[in-house]
Amino acid sequence: MEHKQQLLERIANREAQIGIVGLGYVGLPLAVAFAQEGFSVVGVDLDSRKIAALQRGESYVEDVPADVIAALADAGLFSVSTDYATLAEVDAISICVPTPLRKTKDPDISYIVDATECIATHMPADGGQLIVLESTTYPGTTDEIVLPRLGRDGLEVGRDFFLAFSPERIDPGRTDFTVRTTPKVIGGVTPDCLEVAVALYATVVDHPVPVSSTATAEMVKLLENTFRAVNIGLVNEVALMCDRLGLNVWEVVGAAATKPYGFMPFRPGPGLGGHCIPIDPHYLSWKLRTLNYTARFIELAAEVNSHMPDYVVSKVADALNARRKAVNGSRVLVLGVAYKRDVGDVRESPALDVIHLLRQRGAEVSYHDPYVASLRREGIDLDASPLTAEGLAAADCVVVVTDHSAYDWTWIGATAPLIVDTRNAIKNGAVASIVRL
Ligand SMILES: NC(=O)c1ccc[n+]([C@@H]2O[C@H](COP(=O)([O-])OP(=O)(O)OC[C@H]3O[C@@H](n4cnc5c(N)ncnc54)[C@H](O)[C@@H]3O)[C@@H](O)[C@H]2O)c1
Repeated sequence: MEHKQQLLERIANREAQIGIVGLGYVGLPLAVAFAQEGFSVVGVDLDSRKIAALQRGESYVEDVPADVIAALADAGLFSVSTDYATLAEVDAISICVPTPLRKTKDPDISYIVDATECIATHMPADGGQLIVLESTTYPGTTDEIVLPRLGRDGLEVGRDFFLAFSPERIDPGRTDFTVRTTPKVIGGVTPDCLEVAVALYATVVDHPVPVSSTATAEMVKLLENTFRAVNIGLVNEVALMCDRLGLNVWEVVGAAATKPYGFMPFRPGPGLGGHCIPIDPHYLSWKLRTLNYTARFIELAAEVNSHMPDYVVSKVADALNARRKAVNGSRVLVLGVAYKRDVGDVRESPALDVIHLLRQRGAEVSYHDPYVASLRREGIDLDASPLTAEGLAAADCVVVVTDHSAYDWTWIGATAPLIVDTRNAIKNGAVASIVRL
């Protein structure tokens, strides 16, 4: 039987074995979704600590409960390894490895290249596998980087193996949309690649969205995240404008959001964070630079957004100054260091910049975050302070960087003598000592 037919049947009968490469925020929930659907799933990650944790039945991703991992492992549906040889027998592999930026803000696709190389090395000699790249990347990566390596040993794409790109849309911490209810865009190298990939994802996603090519699917993801980066940049600039005009940007955005059509509210904040929004648009602008085109919106949004931590620190300085205090020597307590509400992820978090800038000006900085017990990153080496009435009262300034829902804002507002609130977490009228963005 030809490979395509065999794959389709094995997927339909839930007999297909599925490999997931990279068991992070994206790969682990996907592995769980396939295993819960009855597929036998093998996860591969080079981080032996993560593999050991999963083998103990523990989870390190907030949205994936440990008992789910343990139950799937007990049922024989989920096993993990650091060894790519475990993927030699699987029918389909999703690649979910990181795609960071280099210091120069150029894409670092070395994780994709390494993973592809390892998968190719262990591919069955007669082929038959479906490979899907999920990592966010610039248009052309699947065709130009992944395809040549997988086809190097004379295997023909669309006949001997199948290749697709399907961007991940997971939003960590979100509960109103799941893997199943979030539509998933899929582009195949050939029509048969697309057919097999759609068949696979249709088992765990209610609405697969087929598109005409892998590059289109790659571009869709970059449009989505560029859309967010640009709109956040716009509203952050509106915050700067409102400051000059003596207006409350939160009131302006809130009132504009009552328009039932043609307006989508974005909120200002201390800057962009996380593994996606600050990074992904640079993949697109880099690619366009190679085509002699400047992606102006992306560059401008990045400029505005990356300035926000400076702006927050200038607000802290002004607020202290108004109380005849200098930043130098002041005790500043940062509330929330994760890049967004209700997660423990500090990657690219604007809190890191805010802490650095405050320290540069001589502040004694401490922090509290219910999800981040210690902060050892980018030259910062701090343990979380307990959140107490004494601690709040003793701080010269409290800076709200992340508005975790566990915080009791009324109590914080009533206890801290001075607060710079970058999220409008403490609602109007709570206290007079609040400086909003
Ligand atoms: N986190 C998100 O919210 C999110 C959302 C959508 C898309 N994405 C994209 O998905 C991709 C993965 O992101 P993530 O947040 O899951 O990253 P992550 O860092 O949480 O997980 C990636 C995992 O891959 C492992 N890894 C690295 N190189 C490997 C290799 N050669 N072989 C096997 N494992 C390897 C790492 O050890 C890590 O556990 C990125 O391209 C990201 O941009 C992330």
